[in-house]
Amino acid sequence: MTANEIIKRLFIAFSKQDSEEFYRIADEFINLEKRKKHNIAAKELKEALYSSKPSRSNNDSNRYRANIPIPRDNDSGFPLLEIKEYEHDWDELIVSEEIKYVLYHICNEFRSIDILSTYNLTPIKKVLFSGQPGTGKTFTAQVLSSVLQIPLIYIRFDAIISSYLGETATNLRKVFDFIANGVWIVLFDEVDIIGKNRDDHYENGEIKRVVNNFLQMLDTFEGESLLICATNHPHILDPAIWRRFDEIINFDLPSELERLSLLKLYLKPMKKTGLINLEKLSHETSGFTPSDLKLMCKEAMKHAIVSEKDQLSTPDIEFALNRMHKRFSIRDEK
Ligand SMILES: Nc1ncnc2c1ncn2[C@@H]1O[C@H](COP(=O)(O)OP(=O)(O)OP(=O)(O)O)[C@@H](O)[C@H]1O
Ligand SMILES: [Mg+2]
Repeated sequence: MTANEIIKRLFIAFSKQDSEEFYRIADEFINLEKRKKHNIAAKELKEALYSSKPSRSNNDSNRYRANIPIPRDNDSGFPLLEIKEYEHDWDELIVSEEIKYVLYHICNEFRSIDILSTYNLTPIKKVLFSGQPGTGKTFTAQVLSSVLQIPLIYIRFDAIISSYLGETATNLRKVFDFIANGVWIVLFDEVDIIGKNRDDHYENGEIKRVVNNFLQMLDTFEGESLLICATNHPHILDPAIWRRFDEIINFDLPSELERLSLLKLYLKPMKKTGLINLEKLSHETSGFTPSDLKLMCKEAMKHAIVSEKDQLSTPDIEFALNRMHKRFSIRDEK
């Protein structure tokens, strides 16, 4: 499209007072400039377009949210994504030093997009989180969204896929178009549904097409958002998916020291008798995920509260620990 055509469409949108269309065309033009590597011009245009709002802030995304409807599945009418805001802190996330460092690094690059672009470089944009259930994949996406103050778009593949054959590709397109219209932290949760090995003979042609489509959209994504895919079955992911990521983070089970930090964090709301030995407890909870530890701490605190005690004591902890072991034995029998 020529510049004249774009200006004409902008005028029409303006005269119709169609602000949604106006912003869409203006963004299209800015992206065109970016593709031509006119990075400074694109940046100035963007600043001018959003001059009443600071760029890359919450407000910026709120504007999109107000103007562009959340895409829905044509057939079921269900929304294909959710937008959420969180207020978590780094302190709430207990992971290894190495993972924390990588996460800080991702944030630093995300905040430095402008300066990076002057060197023709782009920040880390596509990240894969893998790890067992309850190790903090979803929670980490929430923490990143909180510290960067950018809303989290949460996308579940089952919503995208469980529709009429052929609609799935349209749904994916709608989701990517929506994302491209703003700055977001995007979490494609349980991506293994879509990433199932393309040679898997149980999968039908439709899923294969969806995977190809998804990979293509991931490859050609040019927006400024941070895209996170999460899986707890990394082994079933197609090797072609692995290549697409700028960074891969594996969430291991917490070490004894990390379990101690988690126990301190989750039991913080309640006073404890001096006899409670959290070091011993962290030793005894080898193999627990952070999510297991959270559940156990809640059980222990509730046990104390309903027994009308204002302090947590060893029997409360023992009760909760036994409940967790019982839970594991039922789970492992299955
Ligand atoms: N590393 C962690 N540090 C602190 N809290 C954690 C951590 N991991 C998990 N939690 C707590 O456990 C809850 C559940 O974890 P989360 O939903 O992030 O797990 P997940 O890895 O996404 O699991 P799934 O694979 O089942 O989706 C979180 O809301 C958080 O409160
Ligand atoms: Mg999760």
